[in-house]
Amino acid sequence: MKKLVLYTSVDGNTDAVAHAIAERIGADMARLVRVKRVKGFGFFNNLKLRSEVLRHKKPDIFPFKWDPRDYDLIFIGTPVWFDSYNPVYNTLFNVIKIYDRKVALFSCGEKEDTKALTKLSNDWLKESIVLDTKHCVEPIWCDEDSETEAILKDMADWAEKVSERAEKMIEQEELERRKTIYKY
Ligand SMILES: Cc1cc2nc3c(=O)[nH]c(=O)nc-3n(C[C@H](O)[C@H](O)[C@H](O)COP(=O)(O)O)c2cc1C
Repeated sequence: MKKLVLYTSVDGNTDAVAHAIAERIGADMARLVRVKRVKGFGFFNNLKLRSEVLRHKKPDIFPFKWDPRDYDLIFIGTPVWFDSYNPVYNTLFNVIKIYDRKVALFSCGEKEDTKALTKLSNDWLKESIVLDTKHCVEPIWCDEDSETEAILKDMADWAEKVSERAEKMIEQEELERRKTIYKY
């Protein structure tokens, strides 16, 4: 089973989770990077970014060579931005549609809230099989390193379980396919 961790991150929290997941389950990694960097979060910049999210803007992203459709299981990670997902996903999914793939979504935010993942799923992943979603709160900004490690371990444990489940589903699907073809 081919696995991909697709993610974006500005300050490093989602990046840390993506690495923890990819390392645990042996997945390839793909990071979406916007061309125009986010410079600070002052009043005006915040307004601009909020409008990007609300208006479903498609910020330019650097070109990439991977294709998520080459994978059986795709973990998709995003920082929460204004109760939603990062708009670079509008750019990606506007050109690449993911159909009939198993996906699992994760997010990082300053508070406990899974709205962003519900929106991502509803806006772009209706044709996919969303196996599970999981959110965590800013893992790299914990007071203690042990707290960071615990969050990253929790996310990696979750990903491992999802991956095992996907593997079983794929085995079962293959069995069903053979039954249909060879009638046994
Ligand atoms: C523009 C912007 C908007 C944000 N909006 C939210 C929000 O609505 N809810 C929330 O819990 N966190 C919000 N955050 C906090 C980030 O989601 C959080 O710091 C996350 O861990 C950042 O991920 P990253 O380090 O991978 O970029 C926002 C951060 C930024 C920069």
